[in-house]
Amino acid sequence: MEDLSREALPWAHGAPREEFGAFLSKTANSAKGRRIVSRSRSTDHTAIEQQIDDDRVDRYFNGGAGGTPHSVSMMAHDHNLPASVVRYRLRKETRTISDWLDAVCESGRVLDVGCGAGAWTEIFAKRYKAVVGIDRSPLMAEAARERVRCRTNVEILQGDGRESLPDGSFDMIFLGGLCMYLKDADVVALLRSLKHRLTKASSIILRESTVPQGVSFAQGEYQAVYRSVGLYHQLFKDAGPFRVEVRRNYGYNCMETAEELVDLRRRWLPFLPKRSPTLGFLTWWLLRGTSPISFWALPRLLSLLDIAWPRLQNHFFRLRLTE
Ligand SMILES: C[S@@+](CC[C@H](N)C(=O)[O-])C[C@H]1O[C@@H](n2cnc3c(N)ncnc32)[C@H](O)[C@@H]1O
Repeated sequence: MEDLSREALPWAHGAPREEFGAFLSKTANSAKGRRIVSRSRSTDHTAIEQQIDDDRVDRYFNGGAGGTPHSVSMMAHDHNLPASVVRYRLRKETRTISDWLDAVCESGRVLDVGCGAGAWTEIFAKRYKAVVGIDRSPLMAEAARERVRCRTNVEILQGDGRESLPDGSFDMIFLGGLCMYLKDADVVALLRSLKHRLTKASSIILRESTVPQGVSFAQGEYQAVYRSVGLYHQLFKDAGPFRVEVRRNYGYNCMETAEELVDLRRRWLPFLPKRSPTLGFLTWWLLRGTSPISFWALPRLLSLLDIAWPRLQNHFFRLRLTE
C-alpha cells in the first residue's frame, strides 16, 4: 500500500505555500459537507475501512442530497452553476475516452454499475446494442428508467452492485463515480466479480475523483473516499491482474474548478448570497471566458508550487485482462 506518511502528504505539514494549499482544500467544504473534511495519514488501512458509512451513502443518493436525481448523480446540485456545466462536462468526458468507447463494438453488451440517473447509460444506449444499468438507489434507478424510457435496448435494475450483478458477459463495464463510495475491500471484491463477466476483448472503465497523494475523506451527510491514482493502482493489482491505463478527466476538473471557486466565494465573501444562480452563472462564464488560463494554465502553474487546484482531481481508468 502506498505510503501515507509525512513524505506522502507534504502539504499537511506547515510550509507557507502548503498552508495555502490546505486552506484551499479546507475552504472547499460545502454547506452539505460534500467536500474534503479530513485526511488520513494512517498507514493502517482498517482506518480507511471504517470511514465510509454505507447507510449515509444510501440515504444521500436516495433523496437526502436535496437536488434533482439528475443533478445529484452528476454531483452538480450544490453550487448553483448553470445546467450547461453538466453538458460541457459530459461532452469533454466522452471526448477524453472516445477511443476507448470506439473500441467497443456497436453490437456489444454494456453494463453501467452505479448508473445514477442514467446520463452515461443513455450515451451507451445510443452507441451499443444492449445496455444494462444498475443502481442501489430506487430514486436514481427510477430516474434512469424515465430518462431512457424511449429506448428498447436498455434495462435498468435496482440493486447493490456488490451483491446483485446481472448474469452473462459484457463487452464493456462502466463504473462512473462508484468506487469512491466503497471501502477498499468492496472495490477489490467488485472488480474480481466483474472480471468474470469480461471477455478477452472487453474492458472495465472507471471514472473516479482523486487526490494527488494518499487518501482523503468527505464525512458527514456526504460520505466519500478520495484515493490517489497510486492507491487505485494498488486496488487494481489486488483484484487483477489487469492492464491499466489512466487519463486525467479534463471535463470533470473544469466543473470541479467552478465548484471550488463557488466554495471560496461563499467563504471569502459571506455578505453575498450563498445560493445564487446568478453568481453561479457568472462564476462559470468567467471561467469559460478565461479558459484555457483558468482551466489549464493556472492549475499547472499552481501544481509547480505544490498546490493542487482544484483540490479534487478526476481520472478515467481502463482495465483490461492481461493475455
Ligand atoms: C456520483 S453518482 C454517479 C452516477 C453515474 N454513474 C454518473 O456517472 O452520472 C454514484 C451512484 O452510485 C450509486 N451507488 C453507490 N453505491 C452503490 C452500490 N453499492 N451499488 C450500486 N450503486 C451504487 C449511487 O446510488 C449513485 O447513484
